[in-house]
Amino acid sequence: MKKIVSLAKRRGFIFPSSEIYGGFSAIYDYGPYGVELANNIKKEWWKSMVQLREDIVGLDSCIFMHPKIWEASGHVSGFSDPLAECKKCHARLRVDHLLEDIGVQADEKMSEDDINKLFKKNKEKIKCPKCGKQDFTDAKKFNLLVKSNLGNFTDKWDKEPAYLRGETCQGIYVNFKNVLDSTRAKIPFGIAQIGKAFRNEITARQFVFRTREFEQMEMQYFTDPENEMKEYEKLREYRWQWYLNLGIKEKNLRWLKHENLVFYAKEAYDIEYNYPFGFKELEGVHARGDYDLSQHTKFSGQDLTYTDPTNNKKYMPHIIESSVGVGRAMLAVLTDAYTEEKVKDETRVVLKLDKKIAPIKVAVFPLLRNKPELVKKAREVFEMLKPHFTCEFDDNGNIGKRYRRQDELGTVVCLTCDFETLEDNTLTIRDRDTMKQERVKISELDSVLKDRLE
Ligand code: GAP
Repeated sequence: MKKIVSLAKRRGFIFPSSEIYGGFSAIYDYGPYGVELANNIKKEWWKSMVQLREDIVGLDSCIFMHPKIWEASGHVSGFSDPLAECKKCHARLRVDHLLEDIGVQADEKMSEDDINKLFKKNKEKIKCPKCGKQDFTDAKKFNLLVKSNLGNFTDKWDKEPAYLRGETCQGIYVNFKNVLDSTRAKIPFGIAQIGKAFRNEITARQFVFRTREFEQMEMQYFTDPENEMKEYEKLREYRWQWYLNLGIKEKNLRWLKHENLVFYAKEAYDIEYNYPFGFKELEGVHARGDYDLSQHTKFSGQDLTYTDPTNNKKYMPHIIESSVGVGRAMLAVLTDAYTEEKVKDETRVVLKLDKKIAPIKVAVFPLLRNKPELVKKAREVFEMLKPHFTCEFDDNGNIGKRYRRQDELGTVVCLTCDFETLEDNTLTIRDRDTMKQERVKISELDSVLKDRLE
């Protein structure tokens, strides 16, 4: 993990937020290569979840919504983490995580009573991870919603706050009727969106795995109650395949079935990834029954039932969802791609990212930076390619150092213009994974690169 965090900082993928002010806990910024990688991951998700699906449409709802939405969803009363304090060292610890560490599953959505029962039953086996003692307070639940004074100019704003959304899917549920009325959508169909979410995580940890501001990619699929589980199985399969297409090794993925379901859920599985700190939730794929639209019908007074135009059957749509954080997907692909190889007496660090998501596809170098004719030629090649591929021009340091830097960025190919280039218009193309170098004609570059990158 240390190596990944260090590479992410050193090479401009991920920076701690507000670093010159000493940082701001559990918030991270994406640097120049991180934003490219995150955009590529989001692009792949959007393509798979919207563009390739006739039955799914996109949406971009706002971060701020009517506060009642969070009452309807259960977030105001129940969106909380169970916390206990070690009586010896006063560390504040997530009880569901302590239980998880000894192999007992506990959903953070369980009631305070239920989680305390599990906690008491297993207390003998649990030690404080900070000081090793076994003396804890009871678990208490802390609400995760982040409050704001948006549109409220009184000093009592925190009594009636506007919330920063805790999940993006509520924006989908409350737009269900708008989408239905304004498009040709018929059940079964889905609505997908990518956007920021905010949570007052109490024990934020593990780099971008658990942050207080993060981005979610969520798709909610509306079905007839009878078909909910059939569609659920299809969605599970589809989402698993997406990670394989992203180049993630299948051995690093596994399914985790939820044992303690929330009362309305039909079934819930997580896709877990083998992070450097072990298998942990990457994505949730859950069958949520008719809870969400029933709650919004009750709280808004608007009827959100659906009438099937083919047989006039009226019902409250059931929902299956797929939800993944961009940061967690990013940490998974970085972990999966991080490779150390022995090359002669040196260790080469290379990010073997899938070419679809690599931040830079092509780097162009002049062999020597102090030979203007080489720099001019390399610039010409760079200018020719940059409208078509994400490219970088690099003339810093010696060629070996440039290769090492591009390897750490996961750049798929490097092109070098040397003295031969000036004579016969050929250059070398070097492959990131094999390090093999070949000569190609500049006039054929377009098709050679398309072959290698698309
Ligand atoms: N709409 C369902 C929902 O939000 P969740 O399990 O709370 O369910 C879904 O979150 C996904 O969002 C998780 O699987 C994870 O990928 C991501 N996620 C949740 N909390 C996060 C956090 N604090 N930091 C980063 N990603 C988070």
